[in-house]
Amino acid sequence: MNLCVTGLQWGDEGKGKVVDILAENSDIVVRYNGGANAGHTVVINDSTFALHLLPSGSVRPNVACVIANAVVVDPECLINEIDTLARKNITLTKRLFISENAHMVLDYHKKEDQLREASLGSGKIGTTIRGIGPCYADKIGRSYAIRMSDLRDLKKLKGKLQTIVEYKNKIFAALYSTEPIDPETIFEKCQSYADKLLPFITDTTEFLHKSIAGGKSVLFEGAQGSLLDIDHGTFPFVTSSNASSLGMPAGCGVPAKMVDKFFGVAKAYATRVGSGPFPTEQDNEIGQYIRDRGHEYGTTTGRPRRCGWFDAVAASYSVTIGSIDCIALMHLDTLTDIKELKLCRAYKIDGKETTFFPADTDRLSRAACVYETLAGWDEDITAVTDFHDLPLNAQSYIRLIEKLTKKPITIIGVGPKRSQTIFR
Ligand code: GDP
Ligand code: IMO
Ligand code: MG
Repeated sequence: MNLCVTGLQWGDEGKGKVVDILAENSDIVVRYNGGANAGHTVVINDSTFALHLLPSGSVRPNVACVIANAVVVDPECLINEIDTLARKNITLTKRLFISENAHMVLDYHKKEDQLREASLGSGKIGTTIRGIGPCYADKIGRSYAIRMSDLRDLKKLKGKLQTIVEYKNKIFAALYSTEPIDPETIFEKCQSYADKLLPFITDTTEFLHKSIAGGKSVLFEGAQGSLLDIDHGTFPFVTSSNASSLGMPAGCGVPAKMVDKFFGVAKAYATRVGSGPFPTEQDNEIGQYIRDRGHEYGTTTGRPRRCGWFDAVAASYSVTIGSIDCIALMHLDTLTDIKELKLCRAYKIDGKETTFFPADTDRLSRAACVYETLAGWDEDITAVTDFHDLPLNAQSYIRLIEKLTKKPITIIGVGPKRSQTIFR
């Protein structure tokens, strides 16, 4: 079985936990989009791993890990992650495969991200400042891009960096009056990246196709969430990659029809980090309750996440564009002790009711939510492992989401640990 796991909301749905669980039966886990803007949490007994570039399967010693073509790799961050796992006796030697075509995030990308966001003031996107947008812009622009394969020819890379850094310095000086970056410093860092990463750099498309032909099971792991997709999300308040499952085939060179099942991950409520419209947001005591109880603070940046009710209009859109087969609904435990729960089943925009999510941010900002109200539960559900042992009100809540999204919820999260999971 080949599986694909993607977020149905604005990221941080609990993909890391779901991928870790499903990886038990996978031979290979593949990251296909985004970069170190991602923060995927895996909890194993008393250890918590926050993964940014390594696939969430990396904590399982028998699983091969692929960082595919469309991922933008910050080599410094990746080396740190490899070293952190090594300190916990988890080695990536001979089981990490980094695409030679993946683009590299370098210091000038992070600097540009930070300078641009600062210059936008209240109009900023609220990026993670991990250099994601500037690196993808260089990739699409082509002339000033550096890929992982460039580490193979350091002499040529030195010349390329000289040209690129000169160009960037002119732009930074003109727009932001900053001190110039030294190309030699960037080159020296690249030399050390080459020392550490060259053994892992390869043609991952060939590796994946040969592995699939040989009967291996592959799990594709999306970063961010469908509503942050560059082409289908709430532009411009999105990330710079195809973060829905639509990004999977293009991101790693494996056709979508080779995937047997698409899992969509959603929280039992909704969160968003950064700017942009969020129709079900509860900027009030309910939102604060969810934030505190769900520990809703960013894995990558530590920023408090905006919190709100589950939005079935948004989730259904992600299900539709992503050909999602089934849903993993996480953080059901976080809703415990809320007397009345609301689920958004439709939007009213300019006087008209709709159940089709408008990705256009102007229309979305005018959406008023039409809610269904349900009674909550106050029983502790964090040790429940069978759906029928959930309080009846929790079962009704799950069933209504299934009805609204027209997809079965086959995995339910009742806590961060592997064991705190209900399978149906
Ligand atoms: P990702 O980016 O989609 O992988 O999600 P993050 O790791 O950024 O954020 C999800 C957070 O929720 C992490 O701290 C997880 O350990 C935690 N988590 C995942 N599933 C559950 C759940 O069902 N209940 C609770 N309480 N926490 C969960
Ligand atoms: P995971 O994989 C939540 C958001 C940022 C910002 C926007 C653009 O952990 O779910 P970027 O740095 O990508 O240019 O920022 O996207 N964002 C995320 N939000 N989870 C993520 O990843 C995110 N990655 C980016 O907050 O609003
Ligand atoms: Mg996250």
